[in-house]
Order: sequence, then C-alpha cells, then structure tokens
Amino acid sequence: MDLAGKVAVVTGGAMGIGFSACEALAAQGAAILIADMKDGAAAAKRLRDRGYKAAHADTDVSSESDTQHMAEVAMKEFGRIDILLNNAAIYSTLSLKPFEELGVSDWRKMLDVNVIGQFLCCKAVLPAFKAQKAGRIINISSGVAFKGNPGMLHYVASKGAIVSMTRTLATELGEHGILVNSVAPGFTLSDGVHKNPELASTVSGFSVRNRALKRDMLPADIVGAVCFFAGPHAAFITGQTLVVDGGAYYH
Ligand SMILES: NC(=O)c1ccc[n+]([C@@H]2O[C@H](COP(=O)([O-])OP(=O)(O)OC[C@H]3O[C@@H](n4cnc5c(N)ncnc54)[C@H](O)[C@@H]3O)[C@@H](O)[C@H]2O)c1
Repeated sequence: MDLAGKVAVVTGGAMGIGFSACEALAAQGAAILIADMKDGAAAAKRLRDRGYKAAHADTDVSSESDTQHMAEVAMKEFGRIDILLNNAAIYSTLSLKPFEELGVSDWRKMLDVNVIGQFLCCKAVLPAFKAQKAGRIINISSGVAFKGNPGMLHYVASKGAIVSMTRTLATELGEHGILVNSVAPGFTLSDGVHKNPELASTVSGFSVRNRALKRDMLPADIVGAVCFFAGPHAAFITGQTLVVDGGAYYH
C-alpha cells in the first residue's frame, strides 16, 4: 500500500492501459479520478464495486476548460491531487497511412489531443502540486518514438514530443518537489487495439517476433512502471523515460 492516502488523476482511464493503471494504483491505496471523454462513470463504478475510492470527470483532454474542471472535481471529491497519469491519446482508432496521405487536419487533431492534452492536464494540476510542494506526473509516450515505425508519422511525432516535454517539465518543476517521468510501452493488446483489427493484425505478429520476450504485451505489463514512478521508490528519479516493451528497444 505504497500509495495509501494519495489521489491519482488518470486520463483516458475508462479502458485499456489507463483502466489497468487505475486498478493498480487503487490496489496500492490511491483514490482514483478517471478523466475520460466517455465511459468514465461506469469505470469509476467498477472500481468502487471492488471497494476502491473512485470518481470520474467527463473530460476531453484537448479542452482547457475540461481539464480545469477535471482538477476541480478531483479536489472536490478527494481534497488533494498527488499523481497525474497522462495516458489519454489518439492511438487505437488510427488507420495506418503513408505520410504523404496525412493532411494538416490529421496532424492538428493528433497534436491537440496527444501533446497539448498532456500539457493542459499538467497545467490543471499544477496549483495543487505547488501548494503541496509535491506531485508526480507520469506521461505515457510510446516505443514508436524511438523506433520510427511507419504508417503513423503524426502519432510517432506526438509521442516523441512527450519524451522531450517530460525532460523540460522535470527541469522546470523540480524546485517545487514535482517529479515528471514517462513510460513508453511497446505494442499492447489494449481494449482499443482489440477493436481495431487492422492495427492488431498488422502490428501484433511483427511486435512479438521483434521483442526478446516472445509473447503479446498486455496492459497489466505496463502498470508496474506507472506505480513505481508514482511511489516512494522513485523519489529521486525525474525526467526519465522507461521503455516497457519486453525487450524490443534497448533505451
Ligand atoms: N496500445 C498500444 O499498443 C500502445 C503502445 C504504446 C503507447 N500507447 C499509449 O498508451 C495510452 C493508452 O493506449 P490504449 O491502447 O490503452 O488506448 P485505448 O484506446 O484502449 O484507450 C484510450 C482511452 O483514452 C480515452 N481518450 C481518447 N481520447 C481522449 C481525449 N481527447 N480526452 C480524454 N480521453 C480520451 C478513450 O476514451 C479511452 O478510454 C495512449 O497514450 C497510447 O498512445 C499504447
């Protein structure tokens, strides 16, 4: 129970990697605020039914007013915020395309959600973190940022931006006792991926062949890294990106 008494805001926490992280953080004792654009209420209820403390705020992370509301709901429900897991992103709904078929509007939407969304969520929780002189931000990047995967240039660029943003935020926020780290998962059979057979069939076999540990990766494989960065054993680690992919990219 390393996180007893802590409060975690998890964006995109209604399903997939985000929901697995909610389960793991809650099992460590944290109260959970699920910030998702859909199904947050049902996901929070699933956690409460298991005896955990959980609430939700309907949130589109690309909306500044929604992210402010997210932080207000967390403060109202639980009185503090200790952990922000920036997990929401456009990924599992992607259609793979060569870069020349991507338009400016594809790029803008991607950057709005995947990059500006994480920025807005950091800004929203900052007053609570500064007041406590403590806080943990964990940004979900992706192994693709290091490998140059084809067919999703705008997504790869968005996840590369998260690695850089994590470093600068760590530098700027260290003096306030705020630690900022990133987790970069490999291809993961999340709920969203299961709903996109094109993505699942194109990437799954290739991913398993190209990793040291020859099996599919599941959301539960990532949550240990999230809990580590959220907990007491990571108290002097900031600005880092941990690749969790069964040994596909050695970072
Ligand atoms: N699944 C993978 O293979 C994989 C690999 C590397 C990194 N990632 C990253 O992990 C994270 C989760 O991926 P996943 O596969 O679990 O996704 P998923 O599609 O299963 O779940 C995504 C969740 O985010 C929510 N969401 C999407 N856009 C949102 C928005 N604008 N505001 C609020 N919520 C929003 C969705 O409603 C959903 O609940 C993402 O950051 C993704 O880029 C995934």
